[in-house]
Amino acid sequence: MTQAFLPLLTRSRGAIVNVVSLSAFAAVPVLPAYSISKAAAFSMSQSLRALLAGKGVSVHAVLPGPVDTDMTVGLDIPKASPEYVARAILDGVENGEEEIFPDPMSESMAESWRSGAAKAFERQNAALLQAAPVAA
Ligand SMILES: NC(=O)c1ccc[n+]([C@@H]2O[C@H](COP(=O)([O-])OP(=O)(O)OC[C@H]3O[C@@H](n4cnc5c(N)ncnc54)[C@H](OP(=O)(O)O)[C@@H]3O)[C@@H](O)[C@H]2O)c1
Repeated sequence: MTQAFLPLLTRSRGAIVNVVSLSAFAAVPVLPAYSISKAAAFSMSQSLRALLAGKGVSVHAVLPGPVDTDMTVGLDIPKASPEYVARAILDGVENGEEEIFPDPMSESMAESWRSGAAKAFERQNAALLQAAPVAA
């Protein structure tokens, strides 16, 4: 999908918004395959962010907690409404947030992520591209 749209996105200096999940940060052990795929999607988003910055394309990773959709219909837990989450995602893109925490549960992790060692390490790794450009 990213490869297919990249020429258009580059021309429009657009944005890629990957809907990941908080399970990228900490696996939900009842859903191991899902958690693995979300950790991978988060990692892919980090690489794409660094690789596409020079083309003017921004890459955002959305990290929702539980949302009240068909996916969670059998789960009796607190969930954010899809409308609330959708609005927060668009606000996050507009505000240039690299990671978007679009509901109350995920929002509680935003500050520690943004000021944490792992985010600083992501930036440090991204700077390697300036030193030694590699092929995507
Ligand atoms: N709900 C949550 O609590 C939650 C939390 C964190 C992250 N997320 C993430 O949010 C995203 C949306 O999930 P959701 O909660 O909206 O789930 P959902 O209500 O189950 O909707 C999933 C959507 O994905 C589409 N889809 C599934 N397989 C597809 C395929 N192979 N090709 C194209 N489209 C496909 C479905 O299309 P059809 O309707 O045509 O089947 C449906 O519109 C997912 O990435 C999910 O992992 C959800």
